[in-house]
Amino acid sequence: MPLPTVPTDAFLLNLPKAELHLHVEGTLEPDLKLTLAARNNIELDQKTIEEVEASYQFNDLASFLAVYYPAMNVLQTEEDFYELAMAYFKRAAANGVKRTEMFFDPQAHTSRGVPFADVVNGYYRATQDAAQLGVSAELIMCFLRDFTAESAAEHLELSIPFKDKILGLGLDSDERNNPPAKFADVFAKGRELGYKLTMHCDIDQIGSIENIRQVIEDIQVDRIDHGTNIVENPDLITVVKEKGLGLTCCPVSNSFVTADMKAAEITQLLRDGVKVTLNSDDPAYFGGYIGKNYIDYAAKSGVSSAEMVQIAKNSFDVCWISDEQKAQYAAEIDAYVANFHE
Ligand code: HPA
Ligand code: ZN
Repeated sequence: MPLPTVPTDAFLLNLPKAELHLHVEGTLEPDLKLTLAARNNIELDQKTIEEVEASYQFNDLASFLAVYYPAMNVLQTEEDFYELAMAYFKRAAANGVKRTEMFFDPQAHTSRGVPFADVVNGYYRATQDAAQLGVSAELIMCFLRDFTAESAAEHLELSIPFKDKILGLGLDSDERNNPPAKFADVFAKGRELGYKLTMHCDIDQIGSIENIRQVIEDIQVDRIDHGTNIVENPDLITVVKEKGLGLTCCPVSNSFVTADMKAAEITQLLRDGVKVTLNSDDPAYFGGYIGKNYIDYAAKSGVSSAEMVQIAKNSFDVCWISDEQKAQYAAEIDAYVANFHE
């Protein structure tokens, strides 16, 4: 009987998986933040790891973002971006991640005077070196939705010489008063350029349902980040299923920016046949990498080992990779399960 009777922590941690909702800037651990601040002569209010951790006070998306963006000041050089991403890949590998399609926020850096090329080249070089750790990694360039559509369009232009280094486009930061439609033209141009498209539909936002409708019908995204509010609208569940759209859920993150991890909603969608996945979002801020998201969600929801395997299979199924690659990853999961011993 290869499947564990209940999904144990070790089973979930090493289960092969893809991580599709990960902001690389959200992996900036306090120790690296202090190291980079010292190296780059950046004055920080906090001097110790404990002080940095104590500054992580947030209870909703806006208060999280108010802590999150200023922390990025310590990232200055191409090497800094490289080191940040490599530190994440090491942790990802230890969490069973075989593939990641990960977000980065160029405007959070260009707005401070950091050249676009330094950001992309640093991250890209790390994605190449991730292969040595057994992780296949590609980049999704996110626009900040509280910046203007013109700024997004300018960054889309900047990305064209780097097109081979970027897999897709995303949309993050503060959703309030920044609906998907604001970026319809930029994403249409991005599609023409050959980028895959995804957008955040954050949890319990004002206008969540209308925004999810826009990302599906108007923007025609290839995936949805968060998006669990579709549980409130059976028509949206139907169209998400018809289109086979993946939902990149982040239970531990949810528990920081809302009252709970939305485990019941995720389980309802899973059992309804929606391709839900589990991811860590900003693990350095929410205190847990993807393994903890699998473990905490399994404990809270009480789903079976087979259902956790289904979630891991979903994660490869909704990757932006070939059908052959998807089949290889599915086979890797099957082999892992077949050889697992409690
Ligand atoms: N939502 C919006 N913006 C973000 C997030 C998120 O989950 N994580 C980092 N930036
Ligand atoms: Zn996110």
